[in-house]
Amino acid sequence: MRKITLGSFVLSFILVGCSNMSSQNTPMNNEHMGGNTDSQQDMGGMMHGNVPLLESSKGLKALAIPPILEKQQGQDYDYEVIAQKGNTEFFDGVSTDTYGYNGDLLGPTLKIEEGDSVDVKITNNLDEPTTFHWHGLEVRGEIDGGPHGGIQPGDSQIVTLEADQPAATLWYHPHIDGSTAEQVFKGLSGMLLIDEKPSSASQLPTEYGVDDIPLIFQDRLFDDNKQLNYNKLMNDDGTLGTVSIINGTIHPKLIVTKPVMRFRLLNGANARNYTFHLSNGDRFTQIASDGGLLDEPVETKSLTLAASERAEILIDFSKLTDEESLSLINDEGIELLPFDVALDDSPASSPEMWTADEPFLTAQEKARPVSKDIELFGMMDMVTINGKKFDPNRIDLRQEQGVTEVWEVYNKPDMMGGMIHPFHIHGTQFKIISRDGKEPEPNEQGLKDSVLVNPGEKVKLLVTFPEEGIFMFHCHILEHEDNGMMGQIEVF
Ligand code: C2O
Ligand code: CU
Ligand code: CU
Repeated sequence: MRKITLGSFVLSFILVGCSNMSSQNTPMNNEHMGGNTDSQQDMGGMMHGNVPLLESSKGLKALAIPPILEKQQGQDYDYEVIAQKGNTEFFDGVSTDTYGYNGDLLGPTLKIEEGDSVDVKITNNLDEPTTFHWHGLEVRGEIDGGPHGGIQPGDSQIVTLEADQPAATLWYHPHIDGSTAEQVFKGLSGMLLIDEKPSSASQLPTEYGVDDIPLIFQDRLFDDNKQLNYNKLMNDDGTLGTVSIINGTIHPKLIVTKPVMRFRLLNGANARNYTFHLSNGDRFTQIASDGGLLDEPVETKSLTLAASERAEILIDFSKLTDEESLSLINDEGIELLPFDVALDDSPASSPEMWTADEPFLTAQEKARPVSKDIELFGMMDMVTINGKKFDPNRIDLRQEQGVTEVWEVYNKPDMMGGMIHPFHIHGTQFKIISRDGKEPEPNEQGLKDSVLVNPGEKVKLLVTFPEEGIFMFHCHILEHEDNGMMGQIEVF
């Protein structure tokens, strides 16, 4: 890995890239990804219905930061995660029934160091079955927490999670057949971070909650009693809300004290796609995708995440003047997260950036023939993969452990044009070989476990499963998943 500083990286990027920057055509911002120019049309195409606008944050409350899950002392396991019922005061003086892990809403951040293995006791204190799925973690099918991993109310289990993969921003959530969307909607989701070894020299900000901030983006709808009344509010094509919550906070703001901040963005919504920008139109630096650091950081003005996708970005606050305000906004200009910038006197040194020595894909990898075809189709509760709905008793595909294959995922349009489906595979971090034959944008040249597939698009993936077992692949619009847009692969 060659290292360069952020400053020289920016400069070389501008020198090399200014010709195609002029048309706002940032690397991220191609016609596939819902760029800033024709966002409205694109959003309309994502969903069959209208996508309701989010409300802007009024910056009324400090952004909640999920606590770090503390290691157990004197137990025969390292960590404990309990799914439980709770109450959350989203609106002043009103108590909303919610679900959370070890608390009322969302869950603590579970950190595992690269290469480590930890025992986690998982307990279900809900009144209904649930599972604990470690999204993006390459674990054996048995402990992956898919629909077969149901834990009955009152039951516990201990699972050994091995972080045998690069440092990354992953997450955990329930995956019970037919109720995933509702359980997530009520609050079950948490961050799972694989930390770099302390010996690594990346120099990226790593002070959790100070200059390394997790951001779980969700949209919610409440009924007249301010309850998350899922059965009344849900939409079979993906439940969309107008209330923006980040880490469970409505109208959040974040006080920024360090000149260069790292943000770990998770689209934890049931269905909504987010396209992020800075309110002053400046660039920021994307450093990681779902499964870890990109082959090289990407300077961009816009970043799209479909449901379940993650990205890590760096924002440089050091050039802001006192009068300037800054927020993270979405494609419609809605303020998601206003920043209150009050820099301490930390030096404004930029972390080292890098470029990979090896090409993202070798010529042989690019030339590999397709061996698995996936066809995503439908809408509402008529969604299928390869013409079928999920059947827990049917194995749809088989692949040998450790053997690389090429999957081609086709999003077959319907009479109304179709919609974006975020396609996710358990038990693997894959690489995108191409989108409609074209090489992926630089910000997708990294490990991924979920990929946004546009209507009519064919995306080729290079897929290897390091562990054995039965794994799900599915659309991560949670209502589509619950409606059967999911299949199973047996890795042998
Ligand atoms: Cu985020 Cu099947 O999972
Ligand atoms: Cu998953
Ligand atoms: Cu879908």
